[in-house]
Parts: sequence; C-alpha cells; structure tokens
Amino acid sequence: MAEQESWTSRIGFIFAAVGSAVGLGNIWSFPFQTASNGGAAFIVVYLVAVFLIGFPAMLVEFVIGRRSERNPVDAFADLGYGGWTIAGALGAFTSFATLAFYSVVGGWVLIYIVGSATGAYFGDAAAYFGSVASGPTALAAHAVFMAITIGIVALGVTGGIERTTKVMVPSIFVLLIGLAIWVFTLPGADAGYGYYLSPDFGELAANFATIVPAAVGQAFFTLSLGFSVMIIYSSYLGRDDSLPADGGAIVIINTLVAILAGLVVFPILFAIGGEVPEAGGSGTAFTALAGAFGQLPAGAIVGFVFFMVLLFAALSSAISLLEVPVSYVVQHYDYERSAVTVTMGVVIFLLGIPPAMGTGILGWYNDIVFQFLLPLVVLLLIVFVGWVAADLSADELSQGSSVGSSFTGAWLWWVRLVVPIAIVLTFLLGIQSLLIKGGVLASPVFLG
Ligand code: PFF
Repeated sequence: MAEQESWTSRIGFIFAAVGSAVGLGNIWSFPFQTASNGGAAFIVVYLVAVFLIGFPAMLVEFVIGRRSERNPVDAFADLGYGGWTIAGALGAFTSFATLAFYSVVGGWVLIYIVGSATGAYFGDAAAYFGSVASGPTALAAHAVFMAITIGIVALGVTGGIERTTKVMVPSIFVLLIGLAIWVFTLPGADAGYGYYLSPDFGELAANFATIVPAAVGQAFFTLSLGFSVMIIYSSYLGRDDSLPADGGAIVIINTLVAILAGLVVFPILFAIGGEVPEAGGSGTAFTALAGAFGQLPAGAIVGFVFFMVLLFAALSSAISLLEVPVSYVVQHYDYERSAVTVTMGVVIFLLGIPPAMGTGILGWYNDIVFQFLLPLVVLLLIVFVGWVAADLSADELSQGSSVGSSFTGAWLWWVRLVVPIAIVLTFLLGIQSLLIKGGVLASPVFLG
C-alpha cells in the first residue's frame, strides 16, 4: 500500500482548502448573482446558506476523510461500510468530470492574460471572446492549463499542492485588495457599489422560493462540497487539528474573497458606463469586463492583474479536483504518483475536448454537475455521516477540538434533519430546470 502523505502544517491544509474553495465561483458567479438577486439582501441569504448549510456539510466531508485517512473511494470500506463505496466513487467521478470543463474556462483565463499584455481584446471584446472561447485556441489553452495542473499534482501533496497554494492563496488576497483600492478611485465607483449592494428586499421576497435553493447550491459549489475534495484534503490532516475551527476559517476566508470580488468588478463596469451583464460565469461577463479594461486608463495592467487573480483561483481549485481521482489510483493500486497524474490528466483533457469546441456543450457539462451530481453526492455523504455512521462521526468531530458534546450533538441532528431538506429542495429545482432546458417541461411545476 502506498505510504500515506500528509500536510506539513495546519496552515498548509487551510491554504490548500481555501485554494480549492476560492475559484471562478467566487469571482464570477457570486458578484453577479448578488447584484441580480437583491444586493445586500441576497448576501444575508447567502451567509445563512454558507454558515448553516455549507459549514455543517463541510464537517461531514472532514469527518469521513480524517477518520479513514484514505482516498474518498476506499474510505468507506476502511471505515467498515464497503457498501457505501459508491458515494465516494460518485464524488470522484464528479471531480473528474468537473475538471474537464473547469479547465476549459481556466484556458480562457490564460488567453486573457496574454490578451492583456498584447491588447488583443481591447478592440471588440465581444468578437474577441467569440473567436477564442471555443475552437483551436480554446483547445490549446485547455491543454496548457491541464499541463500546469498536472505538473503541480504530480509533485505531490506537500511538494506540489501545499507549496503552490501557499503562494497562490495569499497572492489572490493581496492582488484583490490592491484592485479594490484602485477601483475605489474610479469615477463610477459609487454607482458600482450601489448596484452591487443596495438591498432590494422586494426582489428577494418576489423570488424567495428560487433564490434560497440557488444560494444553497452556490454555497456547496463555492465550498467545493460534493466533489470529495474535502474528504481527500482532510485525510492528510493530523489528528490533533480541530475540524470545526479549520472549517470555520475556510468558510470565512472564502466568503470574504467572494464579497471582495464584487467590490472590484462593479466599479470597473460602471467606470465606463458599460452594460452590466445579468448572469455571471457566462461569456457575457467575460466580455463585459474585458471591454472595460480596453477603455480604462492603465486598463492593460489592471486587466493583467485581474486575470492573474482568476488564474490563481482557478488553478488552486483545479489541482484539488485532479487530486481526488489521482489519490484513489495511487493509494488503491500503489502506482507511482507522477505516472498516474499524467495519465489521468490526459484522459481529463480528452474529456474536455467537446466543451472546448463548443460553449453549449460546456453549459451541459456544468449543468449536469451542478444540478445533479453535486447535490446527490452531498446527500449520500450526509445520510452516511448523520444516520449510518453517527457514533463514529460524532467521535471524530470532537477529536482535537475543544467543542463540547453539545456542539457535536447539535451538529449531528442538524446534519440529519435540516441539511437534507435543503439539499432535496435544491436537487428538485435543479432537475426541474434541466427538464425545462431540455424541453421536457414547458414551465415550472414546483416552486414556480
Ligand atoms: N469552489 C470552486 C469555485 O467556487 O469556483 C469550484 C470547485 C473547485 C468545486 C474545486 C469543487 C472543487 F473540487
């Protein structure tokens, strides 16, 4: 059996986990979701979703990982519940499939870093995006992004993941804060903040039934839950670390980055009086911001810095996605890490060819993961920890932590009863929106 690796320090684990959590979801999706769902009013809902649903669910993955000290696929058999292997396997598959399209978007970021230096997107930003988002350029960039990801993971848990996230995560913070200070001086900054944050409780009330599950879904995605990433990362953790304290730190830092990202994005869009795209994560958002960089003084430098932040965010997430399936093959078959990483990376690259050739396919990959696989995996893990292996879970949560048995007991009941309801709601709405998209349903039948 391959020797078990481990983080060199608690901070190393926190940086790696924050690196996984902070990604395109924080910098693209969150600001735009906030702006279009009631501003500060949405942030309240989001905070509730992240702290009351996401945080307890993160502890669920931590408990499985640290107790078993194994990869997510083998963890269940190690704990004496071999029948649950399917839950871990599904999580590993979700990571695998997600990286295939996440890497295509990571490739776009690389293209825009080069474009900031050459000025390629300064003219007609929309046309530029159209010409690079799919096709040969996108495919080449996807290959480069995967190659970097493979290079880091091949170097191992401490030599690759821990070493690089220790640099990337602080850089994200410093550069984002720098950008936030700079945009504060822009002429349209006030209007940008207003658009982003002004609380609109009417908007929230009118769409409450769909906004709440959307916030829950975003909470899972942004915390990298449902991908087994937090299982594998916590399996490399020491027994005297406090899971609730580390989880709390990760959730808080991740939330701060998301809020900060909005404070950067909207002043930039308003400085040029440009149109604000409705939804984030899409090409429209890429286009709008790149268009603004083309018109701002020092836009090339700001654009370069902004896309570097995005690159660090995307890369530190991508390596966690690759680590999940790699850790399984390395530990289970005792193969050499570098060979496994390259092989697995090449397969994921191939799986990423269709989304690199068409943004429509990319959307489908995203939908299947986000709406279907992710909630399913989280639900399975929660049932396992909350109901099937409850004694072991409660015991593991209290290891290395000063929280008392009342916290552990409350967490267990919360995980048993409240979190599953939130997930089932999200899941049903997700299926419904897939059916509507696919033309099976004409209009919502549930919480419409
Ligand atoms: N948390 C990442 C984001 O917000 O962009 C997405 C993600 C990365 C999900 C890595 C899962 C994961 F394993």
